[in-house]
Amino acid sequence: MQISFAGKRVMITAGAAGMGRATAMAMHKLGATVFTCDVDEQGLASLPEGITTFVCDVSDSSAVNAMFDQILPGGLDIMVNNAGIGGPTKPVEDVTDDEWSQCMSVCIDSQFYCTRRVVPVFKANQSGVIINLVSAAGILGFPNRSPYVAAKWAVSGFTKSMAMELGQDNIRVNGIVPGNVNGERMERVILAHAEAEGIDPAEVRRLYAIGTSMQCYVDPEEIADTICFLCSDYGRHISGQIVGVDGFTETLYPRT
Ligand SMILES: NC(=O)c1ccc[n+]([C@@H]2O[C@H](COP(=O)([O-])OP(=O)(O)OC[C@H]3O[C@@H](n4cnc5c(N)ncnc54)[C@H](O)[C@@H]3O)[C@@H](O)[C@H]2O)c1
Repeated sequence: MQISFAGKRVMITAGAAGMGRATAMAMHKLGATVFTCDVDEQGLASLPEGITTFVCDVSDSSAVNAMFDQILPGGLDIMVNNAGIGGPTKPVEDVTDDEWSQCMSVCIDSQFYCTRRVVPVFKANQSGVIINLVSAAGILGFPNRSPYVAAKWAVSGFTKSMAMELGQDNIRVNGIVPGNVNGERMERVILAHAEAEGIDPAEVRRLYAIGTSMQCYVDPEEIADTICFLCSDYGRHISGQIVGVDGFTETLYPRT
């Protein structure tokens, strides 16, 4: 099996770090013309030459529109809605309006803003692929993470609905559930959880692992590989799926 994205134009949000960066690099390596954006200018600058970058906060619809005004005249084939933030770790009664709306706007509003712009191009081509980054928090409950859970369940619903709405135009829409992904973000989440519950971070790390059937953490490159597969011709009849790359998360909150 060999995948080539030669001749394909791809947009991946939040490509300066983590899974977005791994996906941008993987698609670039497979021959795609890659566009990415982020709020981290320095992170973007460290991407290899040949990847076109935009400093853009994807929770801001006018910034998103200005970015797509530059990209879309040349066409687009694949959209990866990757940006998302973890939101606060605290009981619902302590969540502020700003914390709630910031998490919602980065995790789900951004996917709407980007999807709304690329769909007319995909419809005109009668072809296109959209990948939305979900989370196990978008298919399970997770106490003390209510803004993130609500936003990611919205992503799951948006993904299923877009697959149904756009399938007749040969546009495929799938979600990815990354599970416990090695990297800085996971470390931040573990520390916040440990602090909120007054337990050792090593214990939180162990609890997250045993919440998955395979008792594992995965690497960002594994997520990138799955995204490449789904976006390639090998995935040409895969749509409406929420695909776990997570050793099967049974629970996000193992009770010992
Ligand atoms: N890391 C995990 O364990 C995990 C698990 C499940 C789901 N996810 C989801 O996967 C996706 C990627 O996660 P990650 O861990 O690779 O991310 P990350 O925390 O490593 O961040 C990736 C990038 O997002 C950028 N970013 C943040 N807010 C932005 C905004 N408003 N506009 C543009 N860029 C912005 C950051 O600057 C950073 O470069 C997210 O949607 C996340 O919710 C992550």
